[in-house]
Formats: sequence, C-alpha cells, structure tokens
Amino acid sequence: MQPQIQSKLPDVGTTIFTVMSVLAAENKAINLGQGMPDYPMNQELIALVNEAMKTGHNQYVHMNGYMPLRETIAEKVEFLYQTKINPDTQITVTPGGTYALYTALTTILQPGDEVIVFEPAYDSYIPSTEVNGAKAVPIELTFPEYKINWPLVKNAINERTRAIMINSPHNPTGSVLSKDDMEQLKVLTKNTRIVIVSDEVYEHLVFDGKEHESVLKYPDLLERSFVSFSFGKVYHCTGWKLGYSISSEAFMKEFRKIHQYNAFCCDTPKQVAVASFLKQRDNYLQLGSFFQKKKDFFKDLMSGTKFQPLPSYGSYFQIYSYKNISEESEKDMAIRLTKERGVATIPVSAFYTAGTNNQVLRFCFAKKESTLEAAAEKLINL
Ligand SMILES: Cc1ncc(COP(=O)(O)O)c(C=O)c1O
Repeated sequence: MQPQIQSKLPDVGTTIFTVMSVLAAENKAINLGQGMPDYPMNQELIALVNEAMKTGHNQYVHMNGYMPLRETIAEKVEFLYQTKINPDTQITVTPGGTYALYTALTTILQPGDEVIVFEPAYDSYIPSTEVNGAKAVPIELTFPEYKINWPLVKNAINERTRAIMINSPHNPTGSVLSKDDMEQLKVLTKNTRIVIVSDEVYEHLVFDGKEHESVLKYPDLLERSFVSFSFGKVYHCTGWKLGYSISSEAFMKEFRKIHQYNAFCCDTPKQVAVASFLKQRDNYLQLGSFFQKKKDFFKDLMSGTKFQPLPSYGSYFQIYSYKNISEESEKDMAIRLTKERGVATIPVSAFYTAGTNNQVLRFCFAKKESTLEAAAEKLINL
C-alpha cells in the first residue's frame, strides 16, 4: 500500500493562474493574464551568456553568488539608494525573487509565528508562510487606492508577530509605498522582534514621477529586513529565475544556512553575463519610461472601452474596473472574457484569502504594442 502524505498545504489546489492559462490556450485568447513579456530580451545579454558558456563558466559557482556579480549589485545599490552593502556578507544570489522570499521566511519562522500579509497578495506569500508552520494574518489594502491601513496593522501586531511582508511596486495593483508608509513601518516595528520581508522585484518599474521607496534607503529598516530582487523583471527574461536577497550580515548568515542545502548555487553562465551587463546603468534606468509608454499606450487603447483604470504607479500591471459593464463576479467575468472575447486576464479576487470581489481585473501590459492593440480591439463594444 502506498504511504499517505499529510499535506503541508491542504488548502492549495489548482490556482486561478493555471485555470486562466489553460482556458486562454484552449480558446486561443490573447493572454494578458500572465505577468511576462511577449517580446524578445536583449540580444547582447544573450551573447554574453553564450560567451560565458563557451569560455568554460559551466560548473558550480560560489554558493553565495559569483563574486563579480555581487560586487556589481553592491555598486548598483550604492548608486541608486546611497547605501553601502558588503557584497561578501550581505548579498546572496538566488534562483529568482520568489525563492529569496521563501528562504527568508524559512530562515526566520517557527511554528506558531504570525506573518502580516497585505491583500491582494502575490500568490507565494501565504503558502511560503504556512509551509513553515506559521500563520498568515491577511490585512486588506484600502480600495480603490490599495494603500496600507496602518491603524489596522497596529491592531494586528502582537507578541507572535514575526514578520511583515511588503511589496512595492505592488503585484497585482501597481500601487507603490510612500515615504510616509516607510516611516509608519519604522515606528510600528521599532523595538519589536518583527522582521520585514520586502519584495522589490519591480524596483525599476515606477511611473508618473513617483520614486521607489526601497527598504535599502532606510538603515533602521534594513537591519531588520530581507529584501528580494529579480533579474527576470529587469531584463525581460522571467524564465531565467535569477535574483538576489540583501540583508544584514547577521540575518544573511542564517539565510545562507538554508540556501546551502536547497539550491546551493545558481546558474553560473547567467551570473557571469549579468555581472558585466549590470554595469550598463541605462538598461535599468530607462525601464520606468519603457514601461510607462506601454502602460499609457494600453490606457489610450482601453479608453475606447467601458473599462475604467484604477490608479497604478508601478509594476507590469494595470487594474481595470468593469462595473460599468457587468455585475458578474470577477472570476465569471474573466472566464467569459476569455471564452467570448478571446482576452485572458486575472480576477483580483484570486489574490485575497476571502475572495474579495470589487469587480476589477488585472491586465498585464508588459506586451508588444500589437498584442495590446489586438486585445483592446476585442474589448470594444462590450
Ligand atoms: C510580486 C512578485 N514577486 C516575485 C515574483 C517572482 O520573481 P521570480 O520569477 O524572480 O521568482 C513576481 C513575479 O511575477 C512578482 O510579481
């Protein structure tokens, strides 16, 4: 008889992301659901990876990351946020941003701990908390601005609170944290055992004159934080799954104990390639205007439809309200749009534990202009 497994994640089933992707494929729909570019990445970076492979960079690399890459990351952090980070002790290269978040949570959590998570939330946060025997405490962002309600956070904090997860720019809503938010976070966590797990994979994708408020700018926060980044979002190559975590020396020492027996190290030729490519600052400095153009282009197209955009200042995503079109639930609407109109989106209710329904859908605009044009065309006359 086959032994039984007691599920560590009994509530996890097929996610709406899988459902929508399957449905999109079945209906040959334009997929604005999945958060990934449909245009080619930089050819020079591909050539650098090829060169690294041809010149023999094909074996295990240092478990903390290829040192020249860590040094370039530290230079970038100092340039962008005026903070000195020790590449030897404070940076670990990881297989993607999600892994960096998971490892941070596994490093700090003990059974019974609580983690404050803001909803709508990126789908890995709660399972990565629960698999470690801890409890997620969801707090809903205000609608429709998707801001943190700090008095609610204050009320939720107790002696079991071990972490607060933040994500700016935010998936799925595109909201960004302000200086005032960072101040509130500082005040609420001062003299507590709370660790901040900050997901900053969209750090460069900030629009409309806003600035990214990285935890790395705030020494008082950084000393109690793990901050996660992803090269997949910077270089239009989400399939690379290459990122990094930055933390204090003491925290990073523990993080590396977990990482050592999990991935151990990441793809060597890509690290070698990015180590030199990252020195070309323009590539990441122009990302904000690159995506702003896409967002504005899509918004112009969508102004010909009854969908209404909600405020969005960053990330790959724009949320649209369909309350002028239908009273259906978000899930029903997303399914119907895919089947009848051939455009796949993601219902924002999927990012809430309680399935909160505000009649809004998430559209990914990190797509070719022709893709965005074709999608908007299909949504006119709804
Ligand atoms: C908020 C957020 N965090 C992390 C990730 C994943 O990053 P990576 O692919 O590097 O694991 C994504 C990707 O969609 C994301 O939206």
